[in-house]
Amino acid sequence: MTRNSATLQKYFEAFVERNFLPADACCIAGDIANDYFTYVEFLKFISSKYGSVYVCLGNHDIIMELGGRYGVDREFSTSEEKIAYFLAEVDKIPNLLLLENRIADGIAGCMGMCDFKYKHSLAASEIANKILWATRWFDGRHWNYMQNNADKLWRHYDIVFRELTAQCPKIMMSHFLPLEFGMSERYKQDSCSNFLYFHGAEYLVNLDDGSIWQAGHTHTAIKREYSDSYGKKHLLLCNPVGYPDENPYAEYGLKLEDFLVEIG
Ligand SMILES: [Fe+2]
Repeated sequence: MTRNSATLQKYFEAFVERNFLPADACCIAGDIANDYFTYVEFLKFISSKYGSVYVCLGNHDIIMELGGRYGVDREFSTSEEKIAYFLAEVDKIPNLLLLENRIADGIAGCMGMCDFKYKHSLAASEIANKILWATRWFDGRHWNYMQNNADKLWRHYDIVFRELTAQCPKIMMSHFLPLEFGMSERYKQDSCSNFLYFHGAEYLVNLDDGSIWQAGHTHTAIKREYSDSYGKKHLLLCNPVGYPDENPYAEYGLKLEDFLVEIG
């Protein structure tokens, strides 16, 4: 990853031209960069394109930067240290809010986490999911977050989801997805699908009718209406960029403009 700011700016121009639309505000549900330099530079750049920008963290954003495949970078000793660094840096950007377990302007945000309870096959189990996550999955290998204790991580985000949704934000942002978004065909047979989702009905039901839940993480664009157990309707939105060889819009026949929404 280059540290050259001018090169990055040029790249960002083309990237934003391709993947973003003009609007008053922009919400980004995490996974901006693996390295802290690109992360902060991108936030500075995108904040110059919109009146307001709201961001939550993604699992890639909080990896430890140990060199090798991800490039030699400043070493934070924990993901918490990296998050603290980001919070201090974004404080210098007046129209950008990094919603790290908090609500502002009616928009709530947190990274979230998988709950490990999804079973993609009969052989899967919660304990096996946790072991697989800790030993094989990107986060388990590259995070140093809450001692990478799967139980601790989910307990934390369960409380955060409860507390944030109890405040009835107009938009709830999380990087990880409630299962209520639905699982795209391509992920149904993938053992790593356990690490993409959590059961979100008990949090969605806290939200007012007409609210939005925006998520990231998966590489399939999703836009659907969800009715909670009281019949209140919520718009579920996921608008990923995906890898260069992917077309996130293909499966559900969506397009970039579908994610330009009017907020009342
Ligand atoms: Fe992710």
